Amino acid sequence: MRRMVLAALTALLAFGSTALAEKFPSRPITIVVPFAAGGPSDVMARILAERMKTTLGETLLVENVTGAGGSIGVGRALRSPPDGYTVSFGHLGTHVANGAVYKLGYDLVADLEPVALLPSNPMIIVSKNAVPAKTLAELIAWLKARPTPAAAGTAGAGSGSHIAGLYLENVTGTKLQYVPYRGTGPAMNDLVAGQIDLMVDQLSNSINQVRAGNIRGYAVTDTKRAASAPDIPTTDEAGLSGFHMTLWSGMWVPKGTPGDIVAKLNAATVDALNDPAVRKQLENLGLQMPPTDQLPPQALGAWQKAEIAKWWPMIKAANVKVD
Ligand code: MLT
Repeated sequence: MRRMVLAALTALLAFGSTALAEKFPSRPITIVVPFAAGGPSDVMARILAERMKTTLGETLLVENVTGAGGSIGVGRALRSPPDGYTVSFGHLGTHVANGAVYKLGYDLVADLEPVALLPSNPMIIVSKNAVPAKTLAELIAWLKARPTPAAAGTAGAGSGSHIAGLYLENVTGTKLQYVPYRGTGPAMNDLVAGQIDLMVDQLSNSINQVRAGNIRGYAVTDTKRAASAPDIPTTDEAGLSGFHMTLWSGMWVPKGTPGDIVAKLNAATVDALNDPAVRKQLENLGLQMPPTDQLPPQALGAWQKAEIAKWWPMIKAANVKVD
């Protein structure tokens, strides 16, 4: 008798989640971007949301929930009902580094279901135009010669720009004074205005300002030059051999979200990434599409775990103090 009840319950649950998925989505979906509007995360999310609406038939609303290096926004998203209507947008900083910087109160792997790996881009070392350095070697010499550390803009402790700054300090023996913002969109405004000295920023966020001559670009943290910025040398060419970093993004939903719903969100994301107009927009920002074999949800899960193993030791050794 007990066995029959269990079998009936299992069938009911399965039917229930399938029925849920069949109706999904039946109302707008929220993508929580854990950084301020106008930054690289926000820009990518909005481009994808616009095209995903075509596949899903419902609007995807981008909500900027900022603070603490993006960890507040991730927490908000993963504590939402696991029904597919709240998506957590993030990247190497928010879904890897933050776990080594903050006592999060949640688990970046156990409390999230991966949906899809998104485009990535190298970082670029940029400064305000007033910095008296024309090459990366001159910039590093200038940083070392300063009586006080230069002001480096970030999107908060544990953000991609902060991790990249720690990495730069690590390999050059320089010291930076981090200035946290709610995203590298606002940080870029201050860099252009000369209020801060430099950033190690996502290429997609800096590229238009470098092209316009509003800030100076020194090198990209990749083994090859960016197609969208062919005149900017790589860190290897600029004398900082091996200083490579790729900031990848991704989307997740709360743990327990039915697999059929995750599959629908993944399919809509893949449609967007395969759309020629979307690819053109993203590639023009210096973003590289994820390889096709990295698009299934489980590929993001495996990648996130590998990146945690790679980055946590360096971040923990940096002993980042967060107030
Ligand atoms: C970061 O530095 O983590 C991101 O570039 C911040 C952002 O997307 O605004």
